[in-house]
Amino acid sequence: AATSKINFFNISKFLVIIMKCIVLVILATVLLISCSKGSADENIFHNKEIDDITIGLKNYAIEKGKFIGNLMRDGMFDNLQVHNGSTDNILKTDYNAIVLGNKMKMSNLLRTRPQDPFNVKIEDINTDIIDKFVNYADKHNMRKRGHVMIWYKQIPSWLTNEAPNWSAQQVYDFSKSYILALSAYCKGKIDEWDVLNEGIVNNSFRQGTWYDIINTQANINGDIGYYNYFAYLFKWARQGDSDVELFYNDYNIEAFGTSKNNFMRTFVKKLKLDYSAPIDGVGLQSHFKINLTTDDFISRLGKTIDDLGESDFIANITELDIRICNGDIQTLDDQKKAYKNIVSTAFSRDNCKTILIWGPSDNDSWINSHFEGCGQATPHDENFNKKPAYFGIKEALMDL
Ligand code: G3I
Repeated sequence: AATSKINFFNISKFLVIIMKCIVLVILATVLLISCSKGSADENIFHNKEIDDITIGLKNYAIEKGKFIGNLMRDGMFDNLQVHNGSTDNILKTDYNAIVLGNKMKMSNLLRTRPQDPFNVKIEDINTDIIDKFVNYADKHNMRKRGHVMIWYKQIPSWLTNEAPNWSAQQVYDFSKSYILALSAYCKGKIDEWDVLNEGIVNNSFRQGTWYDIINTQANINGDIGYYNYFAYLFKWARQGDSDVELFYNDYNIEAFGTSKNNFMRTFVKKLKLDYSAPIDGVGLQSHFKINLTTDDFISRLGKTIDDLGESDFIANITELDIRICNGDIQTLDDQKKAYKNIVSTAFSRDNCKTILIWGPSDNDSWINSHFEGCGQATPHDENFNKKPAYFGIKEALMDL
């Protein structure tokens, strides 16, 4: 009995040891699996970080000799770290060209009335804005687009009040001194300027404040009419900086053959050939509603770029966004298709070097506040995550 008791004791002790070993092996295995899974996740995270930092859209664009850009919104301009740095991160990672959404418009650059508006001096211009923009862009090797010299919107209130009473010569003097001062200050700092923005409505010139003044009165040299005045704008901009690229920029001019497109093409060619305006290119703004972006529409955009190219114009896409509105049946995947088609159509042409998108994310887009029931217009969503559209652009760049 004593022996069998000892045997039983030994056997049960042996079994306990075996059980403990099994438990240990299981624990070790679980630990090993979770450890290796942890490091895999870590790798994925690490790779994602590397991917985000090094393989943004711009890397594909650089490889193909193109510029893909975006705008810096006012909120970010005032505080680079807005939204916990998300917008900053998108701009730095994905884009090698940049424009200010609002800050370089006349309402900001010439907010205070110059002592003599007919002899604007560099001291009258808020050059701090330009410096801050240039510093940011240079730090991240971005091409810098100046937007905008002469536009009928977003002008300072003192000018809105005074301008209707000016003579043609005063309009010339003001415009000349402003453009000369601005372009000379920006010489070598800004790569391309929108000299004139949105001067056309349908198939004629926009009838803004200065329309009657310039078209009915001559200046002291006897020059009269918008063709003369617009040509001078480009000549003054060139006088300030001989290397900068100079653009006429507008919306609804993208599709070949519409009345505004026809007028625009006639206008810029005549300006260059008959009035010797040093105009280098046309900015096709490209604010599109999703249901407009059919294959036919996008191929007509390509035809516009070709037509301008035949007359030696650059044709860049300067403010691309594709909004989706309540009631539209199109999805984010349709938007991806449209972005992809536009980027590959435009960039397959040598005279289209730059595509700028108008908003780093749906959180930073003007669409939300200007088109009720519309939004989702950019490649990143409200939470700064990449949307299908982002990958559409990426695929188009990779396929170039
Ligand atoms: O400056 C005031 C500010 O003082 C006020 O607190 C705030 C309250 O809403 O409004 C501010 O002004 C806004 C301004 O942007 C600056 O944020 C205007 O209301 C708003 O209408 C203005 O919108 C800009 C729009 O141009 C004006 O026409 C958009 O941000 C800007 O993206 C848009 O950009 C234009 C291009 O320059 C030319 N092509 C078309 C494009 C889209 O409209």
